[in-house]
Amino acid sequence: MPSRPYIVGNWKMNGTRAMLTEARAVGRVAARYPGVAVALAPPFTLIHAMAENVQDIAVGAQDCHVAASGAHTGDVSAPMIWDAGARFTIVGHSERRAKGGLGHGEDDATVRAKAEAALAAELSVIVCVGETEAERDAGKAEKIVASQLAGSLPPLESIGTRLSVAYEPVWAIGTGRVPSVEDVGAMHRAIRERLLEIYGEEGRGVRILYGGSVNAGNAGELLAADEVGGALVGGASLTADSFGAIIYAAQLLLESRRG
Ligand code: PGA
Repeated sequence: MPSRPYIVGNWKMNGTRAMLTEARAVGRVAARYPGVAVALAPPFTLIHAMAENVQDIAVGAQDCHVAASGAHTGDVSAPMIWDAGARFTIVGHSERRAKGGLGHGEDDATVRAKAEAALAAELSVIVCVGETEAERDAGKAEKIVASQLAGSLPPLESIGTRLSVAYEPVWAIGTGRVPSVEDVGAMHRAIRERLLEIYGEEGRGVRILYGGSVNAGNAGELLAADEVGGALVGGASLTADSFGAIIYAAQLLLESRRG
């Protein structure tokens, strides 16, 4: 874990203005632990209100369109997200990559175009990757993640210090199941190797987050795994109590590493 762990809450399609009280409470926890970088990605509808009303956390989006403006009914562009007060966006979440059901069938090229659009609008970006359960069972997890990285990461010239990668095994999202700490460490080391291949030495500065059923009970050990620079948290980010406990776990780990 680098010196300033990054703990990001993804509210998904949850939250109305009534939930800003939770966000404010998260801000108060974040203010107590300045060594931990804390962020929340609410739905588009809450970005502006959250950015205006909550201190000490970064506010971001969960997706953006590839174009800056135009005839795209129902979509929201990266410059609009910036204008609303967001400073980062998530792209390529598995719920957007999903082909069936209510997914959006986004492929690697679309995810890359979204990451580029976000960076062009000055936003930081978190690019999500992760294998399905069938892919892991078939022993293909690292191969799948490597190919997602090769296809979805934006070009070196655009990233500066604004790129993070989130490793989120699809089978661990919202299920309460998490990979072993060894498996998390192995995958994060493999992702670091791919980042060095793709970006050269610059790849060392890209933060790698773990996501998938992170909670107060498992955050400490997951954050301590090799190359884990923070967490992307879904369900447990919806209340300040549970998200605050994850922020606190990151703080404790920092303190233990400082000795
Ligand atoms: P979860 O979601 O923490 O609810 O598993 C994580 C995510 O999808 O980012």
